[in-house]
Amino acid sequence: MASGARYAGKVVVVTGGGRGIGAGIAQAFAESGAHVVVCDKDESSAQALEQQLPGAVFFHCDVTREEDMRVSVPVYIPPPRFQPLPPLQLTVARNPPAQRLEDTSAQDFRQLLELNLLGSYTLSKLALPHLRKSRGNIINISSLTGAIGQSQALPYVATKGAVTAMTKALALDESKYGVRVNCISPGNIWTPLWETLAASSPDPEAEILKAVLAQPLGRMGQPAEVGAAAVFLASEATFCTGIELRLTGGAELGYGSKASRDTPLEVPALSPAFPRQAPACTTHPQVQPPAPET
Ligand SMILES: NC(=O)c1ccc[n+]([C@@H]2O[C@H](COP(=O)([O-])OP(=O)(O)OC[C@H]3O[C@@H](n4cnc5c(N)ncnc54)[C@H](O)[C@@H]3O)[C@@H](O)[C@H]2O)c1
Repeated sequence: MASGARYAGKVVVVTGGGRGIGAGIAQAFAESGAHVVVCDKDESSAQALEQQLPGAVFFHCDVTREEDMRVSVPVYIPPPRFQPLPPLQLTVARNPPAQRLEDTSAQDFRQLLELNLLGSYTLSKLALPHLRKSRGNIINISSLTGAIGQSQALPYVATKGAVTAMTKALALDESKYGVRVNCISPGNIWTPLWETLAASSPDPEAEILKAVLAQPLGRMGQPAEVGAAAVFLASEATFCTGIELRLTGGAELGYGSKASRDTPLEVPALSPAFPRQAPACTTHPQVQPPAPET
């Protein structure tokens, strides 16, 4: 999608860049002329990407390990390895399968915070001294769920809301250095993560169809579309900082059926001024059509 030399000669560090959204972003920047540093803890997919993308290098890195990032930042970010200085950093996350509050634990929540939030915090902190010199920018990957919530996903949603909030706080503080900080909040993007979650559900096809129907556009997004948005934020959106760019196919628009099957319902009745013409049409088990008047 992105093409040409919009980002020629610049360094882009993409954490979680080995597959899925990260790979889409790495590819879009490579096609824009950037030197892409693919940081991932999974060597196989990231190394395959390194072969495919011109100018890309793979760096083995676990974003929950500060020491890994302490090594990667001095190696890849400052000159002379790449000139001019770097523009960008992106983050990885884990999205656990649906879980009720009772099934979550503080320990799991802490681990998710380490990965989804603190990984981005640590890399930002390490990279900012360099980014300030180069007037680079940061793009975090948040999620639409951080803004609108998601059922049975409390820890994930909380970490993503925090990523968006951190983006705004950092944007304020870094503006004086000319460093822009933005985030992208994807909705449903078809990636290996999504496929794994669908495959673990009792009816994967139904799960996938439900996700497709969530978008007015009638499809899920593609990693390349997130990549194109990231290139736009990094190279064109020079007056944007602290924004949350929603890439959702319109998933958050309009009303939908949101009460769960066990929510007690309160359904107002039509007043006698409006005589019934047809039985109520609903799929909710608690809403029965009124008995015919005798
Ligand atoms: N796919 C979606 O529908 C969707 C929606 C909203 C937000 N997001 C967000 O987009 C991001 C990427 O999601 P995805 O669907 O592409 O996931 P994915 O699982 O397909 O890819 C994630 C990549 O991150 C790497 N990774 C995981 N843990 C790591 C660690 N500790 N250190 C370094 N690398 C690590 C994995 O090896 C993998 O290459 C996540 O932040 C996710 O929350 C995805």
